[in-house]
Amino acid sequence: MAQETSCAVGPIVLLGPPGAGKGTQSKRIMEHYGVPQISTGDLLRENVVQGTDLGKAAKAVMARGQLVSDDLVCNMVRQRLLLPDTTRGYILDGFPRTAAQAGWLDALLEHELFDKRCPTRSWPIVIRLEVDYNQLLLRITGRRSCPTCGRIYNVHFQPPRTDEVCDEAHGTKLVARNDDRLEIIQPRLTAFQEQTRPVADYYQHTGRLISVNGDLPVDDVTEQIYRILEDHRA
Ligand code: AP5
Repeated sequence: MAQETSCAVGPIVLLGPPGAGKGTQSKRIMEHYGVPQISTGDLLRENVVQGTDLGKAAKAVMARGQLVSDDLVCNMVRQRLLLPDTTRGYILDGFPRTAAQAGWLDALLEHELFDKRCPTRSWPIVIRLEVDYNQLLLRITGRRSCPTCGRIYNVHFQPPRTDEVCDEAHGTKLVARNDDRLEIIQPRLTAFQEQTRPVADYYQHTGRLISVNGDLPVDDVTEQIYRILEDHRA
């Protein structure tokens, strides 16, 4: 029975276009339920910084705002999901992003990761953040992050106390992400429309998709998500 009490919330997939708030909400869920955030974007960026083979293959594709190949991303996700900290649940942020990735994930869950002793180690709850196009543009162009502590700000919606400086990592100048430049935003949004929308259809057919209004302020979006997760736990 110890296994059962160690299950916190089960797998969660956060689906949504660039700038929808997946990372912001993942961090809150992570702190609230004590389950890891698995962001494929963050993992890929770490690989780019470290200069691994994966990072070398992904760098130019990411810089163009296109999707990294399914094989590379799925292999990276598999390795991450097999780490022991995922047994109490986990949040997939930015994965799956193609119908092929969604099918691959279901097969991995069914054949390698299902654990009947733990009811939450099962099919993921898929939460889609729906956000208006103009709001997305403001969020992406206004995003800044702290290179020291990783905290995410937004010059329009969550500005730091001092312009362009982190509130927590004293004196650290905030940076914009390389792919948040205007000319890269459109290809990212196009990739979402063409390759990631079918993922929502995939989950809709399996009855696992729940949409929330992601246009609302951060706290209100979090509240909607917690309500869904608590209903699911009950
Ligand atoms: P990734 O890092 O996943 O980027 P993304 O999907 O484009 O999403 P973002 O990080 O831009 O947005 P977010 O939804 O996390 O929003 P955030 O919370 O930061 O992917 C980057 C690249 O990696 C891809 O283009 C691709 O090349 C590659 N890649 C990654 N995964 C892949 C995969 N599975 N397959 C293939 N390739 C892959 O919020 C944005 C801003 O808005 C912040 O400033 C925040 O403060 C603000 N904000 C958030 N919520 C609110 C709110 N409710 N109200 C007001 N402001 C808000």
